[in-house]
Amino acid sequence: MSIQLRVYVPEHPLIEHWLAVARDANTPSVLFKSAMTELGRWLTYEAVRTWLPTMAAKVQTPLRECDATLVNPEVPMGIVPILRAGLALLDGAQTILPIASTYHLGIVRDEETLKPRCYLNKLPQKFTPQTHILILEPMLATGGSIMTAMTEITNRGVDPALIRIVSVVAAPPALQKLSAAYPNLNIYTAIIDEGINSKGYIVPGLGDAGDRAFGT
Ligand code: URA
Repeated sequence: MSIQLRVYVPEHPLIEHWLAVARDANTPSVLFKSAMTELGRWLTYEAVRTWLPTMAAKVQTPLRECDATLVNPEVPMGIVPILRAGLALLDGAQTILPIASTYHLGIVRDEETLKPRCYLNKLPQKFTPQTHILILEPMLATGGSIMTAMTEITNRGVDPALIRIVSVVAAPPALQKLSAAYPNLNIYTAIIDEGINSKGYIVPGLGDAGDRAFGT
C-alpha cells in the first residue's frame, strides 16, 4: 500500500482565532507577530503528536516505581525556519520542542521571476540518520521555496517521512508539487486557501508574512 502526502488542518479554536487575527489587514505588526508565535506553538503541538520519538522508562514516584514514557533525547531533532517569514513561527515552535537544534535556511523569492534563491544555509553537511526535521514555512504558495528547502534537507540524508512542515496558509500549487515529489510527507497548516494570484500571493491569504511580522 503506498503512503500518500497528508495535509492536516487541525480543528482548534486557538488556531482559528490566531489565523483570523493574522489575516486581518488592520492587525498591527506587533499583534501579527504574536499571532504567528501562537500559530507556531499550536500547529507544532499538533504536528509532533505522532512524530516525537519517545521511549519507555520507569520513574520512582513518592510512593513507588511506575511505568512512564519520555521524549527520547537520543533521537536528533531539528527545526528549520525558512527565513524570513519562518522566523515568526520559531518562538512558538521552540516552546514545544526546546531540545531541538535550529538550522536557519534563508530563501528569497525573486519578485519578477518568482524563482527561489538560497542566500543562507546553516544546515550541516550531513544529518545523523533518523534526524527528525520540522520545517517552518508560513506561506506555501507557488511551492518554490519549500521545494528548494526540501531538496537541501533531503540531500543531506533526512528521510522525507521524518519531516513535518508547519505552515499557516497553504495553496494548491505548493501542495501539488510537494505531493508529486514527496508522497510520504506530512504537512500541518491552519488553512488551505483557494489559490495564488499573478504575483504569487495566496488569496485570500494574509499578505506578505515577512513584511507584516517584521514591520517592513
Ligand atoms: N509569501 C507570503 O508572504 N505571502 C504570500 O501570500 C505568498 C508567499
